Amino acid sequence: MQLSSARILLVVGGGVAAYKSLDLARRLRERGARVRAVLTDAGKHFITPLSLAALTGEKVFEDLFSLTDEAEMGHIELSRDADLIVIAPATADLLAKASHGLAGDLASTLLLATDKRILAAPAMNLRMWLAPATRRNVATLRGDGMLFVGPNDGAMACGEFGPGRMAEPLEIVAAVEAALASPAAIAPPASAAKAGALAGKRVVVTSGPTHEPIDPVRYIANRSSGKQGHAIARAAADAGALVTLVSGPVNVADPAGVHVVHVETAREMLAAVEKALPCDIFIAAAAVADWRVEAMREKLKKSAAGPPRLALVENPDILATIAALKKTRPALVVGFAAETENVVAHARKKLARKKCDLIVANDVSPETGIMGGDNNEVHLVGAAGVEHWPKLAKDEVARRLVEAIALRLEDAAQ
Ligand code: CTP
Repeated sequence: MQLSSARILLVVGGGVAAYKSLDLARRLRERGARVRAVLTDAGKHFITPLSLAALTGEKVFEDLFSLTDEAEMGHIELSRDADLIVIAPATADLLAKASHGLAGDLASTLLLATDKRILAAPAMNLRMWLAPATRRNVATLRGDGMLFVGPNDGAMACGEFGPGRMAEPLEIVAAVEAALASPAAIAPPASAAKAGALAGKRVVVTSGPTHEPIDPVRYIANRSSGKQGHAIARAAADAGALVTLVSGPVNVADPAGVHVVHVETAREMLAAVEKALPCDIFIAAAAVADWRVEAMREKLKKSAAGPPRLALVENPDILATIAALKKTRPALVVGFAAETENVVAHARKKLARKKCDLIVANDVSPETGIMGGDNNEVHLVGAAGVEHWPKLAKDEVARRLVEAIALRLEDAAQ
């Protein structure tokens, strides 16, 4: 379906971002859509029904128990007489109500009564967005088929910086167009791990390479892109976990709904992981540099004596360090094994040597295209045996891994 002939029901919740919804209504109408709006009581603290009515060109609905509204158009009809419902801003309160099926006001009643797709543009303080309750609610709603756009990272009205800013109006318009164009998108995406599979669990993931300085302008690095580790962090958050991602320098975006700590070196990565403890699950997906150069303060110069010789010292092994913890060892410690030969045999040895519970082994020989690519072919190596997975998109590997981890965690708890 085209946006130019679509009927959009816009639910405006109570958040500072509500002012952007006025622009959103205008942008949708410019593109030919009919927009009807519902303004919550909290929303009225931020924008007025009059401005929404002026920009939508329609009456604004506010009250569940309005006789006049019910006579004109019942609230059930209102929710069904739309091709798509857009919640913007989708506050923590609205998401919580929707995930629990509450129906105490017009907005939540509509969300419960509708048989149409719902697209939510969350907006809230980053701590509210990262709170376990919100993570659980979002995971449940995703599992129910609710679509999400944003939130984005950035400066917030409350003075903090992080995930929680509502997506920009044109980003929401693009998400609306995508939702209308592909009805299949309403079904819980096949790529979403079982909703709530890790609800309330604390997960720490490392991702990307590390950069080890040679001198102030040069460094040792590797070809890791961070795609697999970031996809795992995203999949764990989608499954309801509270995720900290400790990322080396990468070119992929921070996943939404994940607390991201950016580091450069292996030692910084270890410190950030230790700071993020305690957690239930630790997943070491980073390609940590095994060695660093002994400190060199000044830029190396060419000299008649020939090229410099770099003295290397071993970096701490983050995975082995975390797996060896006594009191704060996570219930499940998962490592990766990047190999170029005898993949499973090497992975078995790593499992034992690093004392972790599970190793995700892959062949990173250049001809596989795995390092830096979008696909991965892995073997899951545990004490109980080896599972061979076919070549899959890294997002799908992440989803399956999260499910496998959730199952193991359940088994361990029994
Ligand atoms: N790892 C880590 N800290 C390091 C090195 C590796 O946490 N200093 C983790 C990786 O994140 C991965 C696992 O250990 O989960 C295995 O990494 P890999 O590079 O395959 O193995 P190495 O430890 O380098 O062992 P080897 O030299 O035998 O390949």
